[in-house]
Formats: sequence, structure tokens, C-alpha cells
Amino acid sequence: MKIIMLGAPGAGKGTQAKMIAEKYGIPHVSTGDIFRANIKNGTELGMEAKKYMDQGLLVPDELTVKILLDRVAQADCAEGYVLDGFPRTIPQAEVLDEALNRLGEKIDCAINVDVPDENIVKRMSGRRACLKCGATYHIEHIPPKREGICDSCESELVLRDDDKPETVQNRLKVYHDQTQPLIEFYTGKGVLKTVDGTADMQDVFAAITAILG
Ligand code: AP5
Ligand code: MG
Repeated sequence: MKIIMLGAPGAGKGTQAKMIAEKYGIPHVSTGDIFRANIKNGTELGMEAKKYMDQGLLVPDELTVKILLDRVAQADCAEGYVLDGFPRTIPQAEVLDEALNRLGEKIDCAINVDVPDENIVKRMSGRRACLKCGATYHIEHIPPKREGICDSCESELVLRDDDKPETVQNRLKVYHDQTQPLIEFYTGKGVLKTVDGTADMQDVFAAITAILG
């Protein structure tokens, strides 16, 4: 099963993608998590990506596409995957489509997690992220068991550099300009499904599993 998560920054793509990955036994592939791991490890890729991420801009397609295609070519992705944060532009979606076509494969479902802009900024300021395993919490809605500590790997939780309100505004603008057109792209392919992302996290997941079966 090959699934794409669409939605604004902070819509809950990562939160839901993790739950999907666990239930269906497929890897959760997040380009944002891959970039953040590279930043943390001080790699060349991380340094390049950080220049864009800190401003709320997209990392250039050339860089992003290669990383994603390498990742999904790995053995654990053979039975499928859930993509979170990719594709984010029409050119990225086209490259993915061509790569899948060459293998005689296709995307089964693109899930659009719909949350209005006004809910987003509030969510982001309360988000705490684990840079080691990628787990995400919210200080009010989804708190960790111990304050500031990841439930899964016990690392320290941080406020992401790009979750400052002014950067979030930029990310929202970039989303509307460059990523939202993908809703039409996947509608045209007959695989788009929209869920209400303002509902409780478990209710959003129930809506998604009702779609995926
Ligand atoms: P990325 O990491 O993908 O960030 P994003 O799309 O901005 O999305 P977020 O991770 O911020 O939000 P999310 O939808 O995953 O929400 P979450 O589940 O955490 O990308 C970061 C940057 O990397 C980009 O800006 C770009 O620079 C670069 N990049 C990445 N991919 C790229 C690509 N393909 N091309 C070019 N550049 C790329 O939830 C948010 C908060 O809400 C959390 O605190 C969570 O606990 C809480 N929450 C979740 N669900 C609910 C709910 N139902 N109710 C209440 N609270 C909830
Ligand atoms: Mg995320």
C-alpha cells in the first residue's frame, strides 16, 4: 500500500502517518524528518536544507527528489510506505509518478488532512518534537508521559526552529502557493480523500482507517 499524506504544515500529517505506519506495517517516510536528522548530524545535506527550512521555504526539488527516491528504493519499502511531506510541489509529484510508472506501480491513496489556517499557528507553538526518533507531541493535546522527554526513545523534546509564529506564516504561504495544487493533481488521478483534521487525533485516525480499510 502506497499512501501520501497531504495537508498544511501542522495539520497532523506526521501524527497520523506514524499511526498508519504502525497499523499497516509499512515505513513512515518523512522528508522533513530526514532533513532534520541530517541537520542534527551536521551533514552537508543538512546544512544546505537548513538554509531553506529556517525561513519556512521549500528545499529545492533537485535535492529533495533524490533523497526520497533513494529512500523508497530501500528494501523495507518494497511492500509500500506512507509518505509524509512529499510530494510538496507538482514537479515532485510528477517525478514520483514517473518513477512508480517505470516499476508498474502507483499511489493507492492521497489523504488530505484538512485544517484551516487559523488553527495551525496555535498548534505549532505547542508542538514538541523528538529529533532522534521523529515522535511529535503537543503540550496540551498530546502531552508526553514525562514533561520534555520522548515516550518512545527517552530523548529530550524540543520546539522546532521553524515553529516560530513568523516562520509558520511563511510556511502556510508556501503551502498555499506550491503544495495545495497537489489536491487537484491527485483528485485528477482519482485517489484523493479528505479527512477533517480538526477532530480529535483518534477520530482523524478512525476516518483514515475507514478509507484505507
Ligand atoms: P515537514 O517536517 O514536513 O513540516 P510541515 O509540512 O510543515 O509539517 P509539520 O511536520 O510541521 O506538521 P504535520 O502536518 O506533520 O503535523 P504534526 O503531526 O506534527 O517539513 C519541514 C520543512 O522541511 C519544510 O518547511 C521544508 O523546508 C522542508 N521540506 C520537507 N519536505 C520537503 C519537500 N518534499 N520539498 C521541499 N522541502 C521540504 O502535528 C502538529 C501539532 O499538532 C503537533 O504538536 C501534534 O501533536 C498536534 N496535533 C496533531 N493532530 C492533532 C489533532 N487532531 N488535534 C490536536 N492537535 C493535534
Ligand atoms: Mg511533520
